Amino acid sequence: MPNPRPRAFSGIQPTADSLHLGNYLGALVNWVAFQDTFECVYCVVDLHSLTVGPDPAAIRDRTRRTAAQMLAAGIDPSRSILFVQSHVPEHAELTWLLNCVTGFGEASRMTQFKDKSLRQGSEGTTVGLFDYPVLMAADILLYDAAAVPVGEDQRQHLELSRDLATRLNARYGEGTAIVPEPYIVRATAKIQDLQDPTSKMSKSGSPGGILELMDSPKVLAKRIKSAVTDGDTEIRFDPGTKPGVSNLLTIYSALTGRGIDTIVEDYRGKMYGHLKADLADVVVEVFTPLREKTQSYLEDPAWLDAILAEGAARAREIAAEVYGRIAGRFGLLPPGGAGRGSSADG
Ligand code: TRP
Repeated sequence: MPNPRPRAFSGIQPTADSLHLGNYLGALVNWVAFQDTFECVYCVVDLHSLTVGPDPAAIRDRTRRTAAQMLAAGIDPSRSILFVQSHVPEHAELTWLLNCVTGFGEASRMTQFKDKSLRQGSEGTTVGLFDYPVLMAADILLYDAAAVPVGEDQRQHLELSRDLATRLNARYGEGTAIVPEPYIVRATAKIQDLQDPTSKMSKSGSPGGILELMDSPKVLAKRIKSAVTDGDTEIRFDPGTKPGVSNLLTIYSALTGRGIDTIVEDYRGKMYGHLKADLADVVVEVFTPLREKTQSYLEDPAWLDAILAEGAARAREIAAEVYGRIAGRFGLLPPGGAGRGSSADG
C-alpha cells in the first residue's frame, strides 16, 4: 500500500509527574503540528528513563501520566501511533545490532554522557547511560523515520543516528536504513527558567522556575508573579541585558501567537506587574483544559492502557518488519525462515 506521508518519530522520557512549559512549547506543540504532514510515531521512552534509575512505582505512574498529557495536548491516536517503548521488544534487539557497529570512542564523545558520567563518577555510571544514544538511534531507525523533531540538546544524538544509518547502508547495502533528518525546534520557543532566566527551563532547575502543565492556576500565577525581572522598570525585549522580562515576553508570544513587538507596544509605560498578571491569565487559559483532560484520562487507566496497547500493536507491525530486514542484512538467520525475518532482501 503506498504511503503518501513520510514518517516522523520522536520520544519523550517518563521522568516527571508533569511536563513543563519548555516541553510543551519545545516538543509537544511541534509534534501535534507534525501530524498534518507526517505519519507520526510518538513513543514514551521508558527504557531510556531506566538510565536514571527512578523507582519502579514512579516509572509506572509517570509512563501513564506522560502518555495522558500527550493525548491531552493533541496527539491523536487515530492519526498517529502513540506507544510505550518497552512494549515493542525490537527496540532493545536493534540496539544490540547497532552496538556492534558503534565505535567505543564514538559513543564516548557524546557530550550528554560525558557531562552526566562526570557528575556521577564511573562507579555511579551505568553501561545503560553509555548506550543511551544507541538505543535512541534504534528507536529512530526501527521506523524508517525520515524526520525527527527534537530540541537543540538532541542534535549530537541525532547526528549519531545519521552516522549509524549511513554506516549500515555502506556496509550492508543501500536501503538497509533510512538516514533521518533532524527538525530542530525554532529558537523562538526557547523557554528559560523563571528564577534563573539565563538557563533553560528544565525539571532539574530551580523549583520555582518551571511552569508545569499539571500545576493549579494558583501555583501558576504565583510562579509568574515571583519570576525574576530585571533592573530597570521598562518592558523591552532584550535577552542579553533583560533576560527575565524577555523570557516572559517570549512565553506570552509563544502561547498567544502574537508578535513580541506588538506585545511590547501594548505594555508601553506599564509596569512589570501588569505584564505578569496578564501572562498568568494566558498560561492558565492554555494549561487548564490540558490539565483537566489529562486528569480525566488518568481516571480511566483501562482506557489509557488500551490506547497504548493499540499503539504498540501498530508500532510492532512496522518494527518487526524493519528489524527483520536489518537483522537479515547482518546475516542473522530468520526464525523459521519466514515471518519477521523475511530473507527476501537479506
Ligand atoms: N533523548 C531524547 C530526549 O531526552 C528522547 C528520545 C529517546 C528521543 N528516543 C528518541 C527523541 C528518538 C527523538 C527520537 O529528549
